[in-house]
Amino acid sequence: MRLSSPTLPGVDKDLFSEINQLKKAKNAVILAHYYQEPDVQDVADFVGDSLELARAAQKTSADLIVFAGVHFMAEGAKILNPSRKVIMPDLRAGCSLSDSCPPEAFARFRARYPDHFIVSYINCSAAIKAQSDVICTSSNAVGIVEKIPKNQGIIFAPDRNLGAYVAKATGRDLVLWQGTCIVHETFSERKIIELKIQNPEAELIAHPECEPELLARADFIGSTSALLKHVCESRTSTFIIATEEGILHQMRKRAPGKKLIAAPPNGPCHCNECPFMKLNTLEKIYACVYNEAPELTVPDDLRIRALAPLERMLEWSV
Ligand code: 13P
Ligand code: SF4
Repeated sequence: MRLSSPTLPGVDKDLFSEINQLKKAKNAVILAHYYQEPDVQDVADFVGDSLELARAAQKTSADLIVFAGVHFMAEGAKILNPSRKVIMPDLRAGCSLSDSCPPEAFARFRARYPDHFIVSYINCSAAIKAQSDVICTSSNAVGIVEKIPKNQGIIFAPDRNLGAYVAKATGRDLVLWQGTCIVHETFSERKIIELKIQNPEAELIAHPECEPELLARADFIGSTSALLKHVCESRTSTFIIATEEGILHQMRKRAPGKKLIAAPPNGPCHCNECPFMKLNTLEKIYACVYNEAPELTVPDDLRIRALAPLERMLEWSV
């Protein structure tokens, strides 16, 4: 039987146990990104940043990988572990950054720099990965670029903010694809300055996808995992956090008692929530494990071309 509109128990606790039973019966594993809703993070077997999720997907012995994240992450899981069935709660969970780099336009762009090495941020499609020499995530981008000989020209795609951050950190001159993330572009510098005045003891911590002007004000810059670790380990008690606000869930759990302020967006909106990540819900996870669908597939020729730069990243970042 296929559930298109499943009849679900109304209470979250029941949904949790239903999902857990299904998981056991089907030898499934749920991998979730830090930007997921709290209940989705809580039902997951593993919550992590992009690099940790890629590693977990590569290593899992589960038959069914349920990816509660966005499309490029689940696609990465399939590329790294093709013998497993990879399913997503909602196949429409894309990524504005990935969409900002269409494969044909990128092929024309890189043709202008034929001798350049291509470093692509993992937030891109398999078609972009297949055109790249190595992939990076926000947690290893600086280290990956540092591994490339100093006299070698480099194209960095698709995020221009992360690219500018890496260029500054490594002293390298990178050719940047001009992509951005709708969430990380949204933070209001003016409102953050106001918050700093009201909370002078607070540290501003930011994801490197944020704009350079904001990063220049940050006390600490890092991937989602690095931000979480910093909040847990720092002696500071108040933080203004400039990234998608889903990360606050793990921060609250692992650093209770600390004052966590989500950096405010420019407008009167919830633009600091990733609309793609938030398409995944507990109900859709239940339906997806039950139906073992929708399944994410990658054509074999594309998968093989995209695998080499992903494996190189994992080798270079042990
Ligand atoms: P992380 O690699 O820090 O998890 O970031 C993923 C992401 O999509 C940021 O917008
Ligand atoms: Fe993509 Fe931005 Fe959402 Fe991350 S937060 S998945 S980069 S749209």
